[in-house]
Amino acid sequence: MYQKPRILATRNFPPAVMERLLKDYHVITNDSDEHLTSEAILEKANKVDAIMGSPTNPFQKDLIEALPSNVKLITTFSVGYDHMDVAAADKCGILLSNTPDVLTDATADIAILCMLGAARMAHSSAEFLRAGKWDRWSANQFLGVQVSGKKLGILGMGRIGQAVARRALGFDMEIHYHNRRPVNDDRLKDAIYHETLESLLPNCDFLSINCGLSEETHYLINDTTIAAMPDGAVLVNTARGPIVEDEALIRALKSKKLAAAGLDVFENEPNLNPGYMDLPNLFVLPHIGSATIETRNEMGFKCLDNLDAFFAGKALPSQIKL
Ligand code: 8YV
Repeated sequence: MYQKPRILATRNFPPAVMERLLKDYHVITNDSDEHLTSEAILEKANKVDAIMGSPTNPFQKDLIEALPSNVKLITTFSVGYDHMDVAAADKCGILLSNTPDVLTDATADIAILCMLGAARMAHSSAEFLRAGKWDRWSANQFLGVQVSGKKLGILGMGRIGQAVARRALGFDMEIHYHNRRPVNDDRLKDAIYHETLESLLPNCDFLSINCGLSEETHYLINDTTIAAMPDGAVLVNTARGPIVEDEALIRALKSKKLAAAGLDVFENEPNLNPGYMDLPNLFVLPHIGSATIETRNEMGFKCLDNLDAFFAGKALPSQIKL
């Protein structure tokens, strides 16, 4: 008799995703919406053939090496995979997959929201209003930084970086970017390529971070790199928190070296550095880049497509390769 493959779902994924998962697989669920500890994963791992996880469950070397050999695939509900040790998985013969493409638009939308929200003081002005403090219009109140027509620097011109650039063209922005290589897209033919970060930074009235987190990009934005940006620039991060050294950014926002920052990610999520708390020039969101119903469903379906392909003996649609 056909036995459904067994999956450990480390998180409570969106209802449409859970419905398909539960229909096609024998699932150990986690209904609590708390992330599972590595110990809890290991405890359940000997009962499953694959794991559907998320960045809240880091699959680093120790955990990967400790997994029993019945676990053949880990599919992550994210495009980023800095939380997984790809080399260790490769060595242990465990396949990995992620969810590229489907969250590009939603995340690029949030980058634009962060850019506008930070530049136009959306958070502090809205809070002022809701607190009942707004008693008159003033020509000098909540004066932000103009976005339209400015230079936008993009660090990391992959799918999301390019989608941010295309949107920014609608604001008549001049696009500059640093990437391993120039992009080849007619719509971005006027975007200016910088071979080095040092060359990009002085051109960033706005800097949008859209690269992955790795040893090379960890703390890439620090006191030195911030100093190389124009005075009064705006920093936007929708990629991964540790690309920016929070303490350096806090210093720059306090001193007004940077006019503002718009963050969807920050170090040590979900705990926002207390140094940020009272800064009126910070627009910050709780990592909602991909949080639309459509996108989160598509992310889950992409995980399921990878599971389906694997158990049908086919190539994974989005395998993470070493
Ligand atoms: C996810 C993300 O929401 O896909 C990623 O890499 O950062 C976000 O879009 C988050 O990782 C939850 O899975």
